[in-house]
Amino acid sequence: MKFFIDTANLKEIQEAVELGVLDGVTTNPSLMAKEGIKGTDAVMSHYRQICEMVDGDVSAEVIATDYEGIIREGEALAELHPNIVVKVPMIRDGVKAIRYFSEKGIKTNCTLIFSAGQALLAAKAGATYVSPFVGRLDDIGADGMLLIQQIVDIFSNYGYPTQVLAASVRHVPHLIQCAELGADVATCPLSVITGLLHHPLTDKGLATFLADHKRVNE
Ligand code: E4P
Repeated sequence: MKFFIDTANLKEIQEAVELGVLDGVTTNPSLMAKEGIKGTDAVMSHYRQICEMVDGDVSAEVIATDYEGIIREGEALAELHPNIVVKVPMIRDGVKAIRYFSEKGIKTNCTLIFSAGQALLAAKAGATYVSPFVGRLDDIGADGMLLIQQIVDIFSNYGYPTQVLAASVRHVPHLIQCAELGADVATCPLSVITGLLHHPLTDKGLATFLADHKRVNE
């Protein structure tokens, strides 16, 4: 399973790159706003910086919701860097735009997926990735992981090349369940990736090893 980091924070991206396990980055307009990135020039320059830091796909989301606007923004984003994946919302004009980008060889990530039907539609339109939002489904009492399972099964039934990018992954058990279910990618905050490091028995075992070594080497 590929690990993407879900942030626009350059320091966090750098830390994940240095850990040596990062395969890509996803951003969204809320994450860009959180970093205080505003205005087209600043946004474009920020995406370029992220692409130069990471050897992998970087999702950059369009703001337009009409077909022409999505195409215009998506083409400008795709021209920035070969790592750019144009992130397009699951709306009617978004699906049409995904078909257009797919025919032009521009990679896409269809975002805000909350049902298997939406994922199927995006895959048929030629999306490179679909992003089902696990955490936001859990937030409303639905089962985010059931959706991952459904999409993985459907894509496997028909051999769709579209990758399942589990998004809104909020904690370590989410990440592990995505891996068990066969999601191609999970995107999550840095804290979830580094959360995989920890186990109390590892800490306890290491402390014992170091203490025993010290006892006979002093
Ligand atoms: C995915 O691409 C989104 O940026 C993200 O995973 C949303 O996560 P959230 O529901 O924790 O905001």
